[in-house]
Amino acid sequence: MANTAELTVDGKSYSFPTLEGTEHEKAFDISNLRDQTGYVTLDRGYKNTGATKSAITFLDGEQGILQYRGYAIEDLAAKASFLEVAYLLIYGELPTKDQYAQFENSIRRHTLVNEDMRKIFDGFPVKAHPMGVLASLVSAMSAFYSDLEGSSGEDKTDLHIIRLLAKLPTIATWSYKRSQGHPINYPKNSLDYIPNFLNMMFSLPVEDYKIDPVVVEALNVLLILHADHEQNCSTSTVRLVGSSQANIYSSISAGISALWGPLHGGANQEVIEMLENIKADGGDVAKYVDMAKNAKTTGFRLFGFGHRVYKNFDPRAKIIKKAADDVLTKLGINDPVLEIAKGLEEAALHDEYFVSRKLYPNVDFYSGIIYRALGIPTNMFTVMFAIGRLPGWIAQWKEMREQKEPIGRPRQIYTGPTLREFVSLENR
Ligand code: SDX
Repeated sequence: MANTAELTVDGKSYSFPTLEGTEHEKAFDISNLRDQTGYVTLDRGYKNTGATKSAITFLDGEQGILQYRGYAIEDLAAKASFLEVAYLLIYGELPTKDQYAQFENSIRRHTLVNEDMRKIFDGFPVKAHPMGVLASLVSAMSAFYSDLEGSSGEDKTDLHIIRLLAKLPTIATWSYKRSQGHPINYPKNSLDYIPNFLNMMFSLPVEDYKIDPVVVEALNVLLILHADHEQNCSTSTVRLVGSSQANIYSSISAGISALWGPLHGGANQEVIEMLENIKADGGDVAKYVDMAKNAKTTGFRLFGFGHRVYKNFDPRAKIIKKAADDVLTKLGINDPVLEIAKGLEEAALHDEYFVSRKLYPNVDFYSGIIYRALGIPTNMFTVMFAIGRLPGWIAQWKEMREQKEPIGRPRQIYTGPTLREFVSLENR
């Protein structure tokens, strides 16, 4: 028998059905709350509000669990390729050998971008942040690939999914190359997904770029760890924009803009800048822990710490922290910023302010240290997050469409002036 939740308000009692997910998450179904009671709910930041049912990603913030379509993130990061994980998120199952070959080959053959998009790119100032460029160019893709359905009305979503996965890395490298005064590189069909990205980022006309398998493997893990994270800010943005029947390119572009924020994906850039500041200031981590504890007066946040859902260790942060040690050792890099990060983590995890608020390192705390070791500049860190998160955004957009979700339109509690007479200008 379905359970119900009883609500008594204004002397009347109401019943609402409850539901339970496959991982035993429970919810009140309040779809008829306003019709029945005249009340709406208020939940700033949607801390307690489920926006949808989804079969893509499960995370348990108390236990520090993250699973994509039922597979543990630890297994996927250790055993899968990023494109295998992209296929899993988008289509629901790990691909067979034939499915993977077809998927990977389709992506390989769509990495080239319409040359006219370079004219849009050339209009940006050289110092434009790569995330602003990326959001604009992905939105522009809806103009270049406007065949959103076939001539006989057949759905072409799978083709647009391939185009996005294939072309985002190509576009992503343009800002970096121009910021270095280097010519933009074209993708090569002879290279796999991650080596192709690295070659477009770092190869020069004067010498070939040598693909280092250590760098490829580190990026593969990082992209997998960023691939999806249920209804986070940017994914909710993609779903909300897509719920109005906006096309996939416009929806993903909105997600890129949401991710850019320093409280969300932009935190990985903020973390490195924060660690560099601490290093320049003598490496006194205790001073910065104190500043973070007095955030209301100092306005200082420990970027890379805290999470809306994880009230235990972010499982991704654990994997990235170990990967940072491995990669720097293999590449023979001694980055003092890594030691500062570890010192900051140690100090915070033994401080009542952080412990009482359950603030632990999140996915952004160590990722920038690896990106930096791979030669990726700080202002490209959030672009790397976007390349990783793209399959998750696509999967969530596709699920929202397939579930025929209604257009998203939250309610509010109005607190402005009540009705008043208009006074003409000459009398004001
Ligand atoms: C991502 O949602 C996702 O899944 C996101 C993400 C994904 O994969 O999509 O995991 C990626 O965005 C990771 C988070 C990256 N952001 C940062 O590292 C920025 C720093 N962290 C925060 O600003 C904060 O922790 C949030 C935004 C991540 C979460 O904020 P909440 O859940 O709204 O919590 P809050 O801001 O209400 O903080 C609760 C308390 C407050 O203190 P009090 O009002 O109780 O006194 O904790 C304090 C905050 O001041 N606090 C911090 C802190 N984070 C929260 N104090 C110091 N340093 C911090 N980092």
